[in-house]
Amino acid sequence: MQKAPSVFDIMARVAEIRQIVNTPSSQVYMMTFDNCEEIAELAKPGQFVLIWPEPESILHILGRPFCIAFSHHSKGQIEIIFKVVGWGTNELAQKKPGDLLKIRGPLGNGWQINSDVTDVLLVAGGTGIAALTGLIDACRQSDNIRTVHIFIGARTADELVLPTKIAKFRHIDLYLATEDGSEGFHGLVTDALKALLYNNPLQEPQIFAAGPRPMLKAVAEIARQNGIPGQVSMESQMACGVGACMGCATAVYDQESPMGWTYGRVCKDGPVFPIGKIVWRWEKMRMKMAKKTNMELFIELVKNITGCTVKYDEASRVVTIEHSSLISEEKILKALHEKSGLMKEDYTLLPDKN
Ligand SMILES: Cc1cc2nc3c(=O)[nH]c(=O)nc-3n(C[C@H](O)[C@H](O)[C@H](O)COP(=O)(O)OP(=O)(O)OC[C@H]3O[C@@H](n4cnc5c(N)ncnc54)[C@H](O)[C@@H]3O)c2cc1C
Ligand code: FES
Repeated sequence: MQKAPSVFDIMARVAEIRQIVNTPSSQVYMMTFDNCEEIAELAKPGQFVLIWPEPESILHILGRPFCIAFSHHSKGQIEIIFKVVGWGTNELAQKKPGDLLKIRGPLGNGWQINSDVTDVLLVAGGTGIAALTGLIDACRQSDNIRTVHIFIGARTADELVLPTKIAKFRHIDLYLATEDGSEGFHGLVTDALKALLYNNPLQEPQIFAAGPRPMLKAVAEIARQNGIPGQVSMESQMACGVGACMGCATAVYDQESPMGWTYGRVCKDGPVFPIGKIVWRWEKMRMKMAKKTNMELFIELVKNITGCTVKYDEASRVVTIEHSSLISEEKILKALHEKSGLMKEDYTLLPDKN
């Protein structure tokens, strides 16, 4: 018997498009597609679709990834929320009801709720809320979960994405945070999260976060300090979208690999990753090389051995190796001594300029 496909390529029809944020620095749209029965039926919270904004353009080859914000199986519809940042999203914003677009999905892994969780903390920055909406219903179907705390942050009140729609969900605690204090908590959404955790010790919490990388990094630190398990939805630029090209790679910890980390594919291994799995912090190791070294060959060797980003400044003869904070300089040097023939007299270590 043939296995039913789990990813579909379809021509979807734009049913509706409306602008939900319109400020000089942020243009956000919500778009509903018809003809998406298969995707709507299979989509799990946190999964995404690739959308080709303009099939006739030379730039059409790469689909753009967007989270499935809402899926309505009975109507065969899915909805996305997108911010205009470049060519593809600008093209999408010009679409009209009735236009046909190629969509591939559902893609990626989606969120996993731990079985013993009692309090769920959803943290969204900007359009990150699109990754989290599906999780709200999933949380309410769990018998254990007492409260779903939802944090939505933006620079100003006008730039908050979907605050009114989310407020209509029943049995949730909604916290809005704006950097200018024009709505809700005055400050970063991560400070609002810290305030809740400080004032209300929670029994078995779990954090789910989506938004800009600096926000995710801050959430990861809060989760670490409070010993709370969690997951993040990562964003990266994508090419194939199905795990074949490594175009979307992000660094993740991996005890099995020699340097303690490897690359995870956001499209296939993610976009959802355990919060502690992502390499958030990089450090720079700087070595001033003695004159005799054949630098071209040496740099290639260092790249191959460490898998790190390596830069060389010819004028100062300084090699900079960008490595995860969990891997010590000693470990890198040991690998270089053993595998590249590097000797102690070939270099002097310089202090990190960071
Ligand atoms: C799994 C996943 C889900 C996503 N879901 C959403 C969503 O629900 N809503 C939404 O608005 N956006 C989402 N994104 C980001 C979205 O895919 C990009 O904004 C979009 O592809 C940009 O296309 P563009 O042609 O307009 O921009 P381009 O012209 O390709 O690029 C314009 C600028 O945006 C930057 N950029 C492009 N893609 C990304 C990216 N993925 N991450 C960070 N910077 C980028 C580029 O470096 C460049 O500076 C998601 C990304 C991923 C990987
Ligand atoms: S985009 Fe090709 S592997 Fe992820």
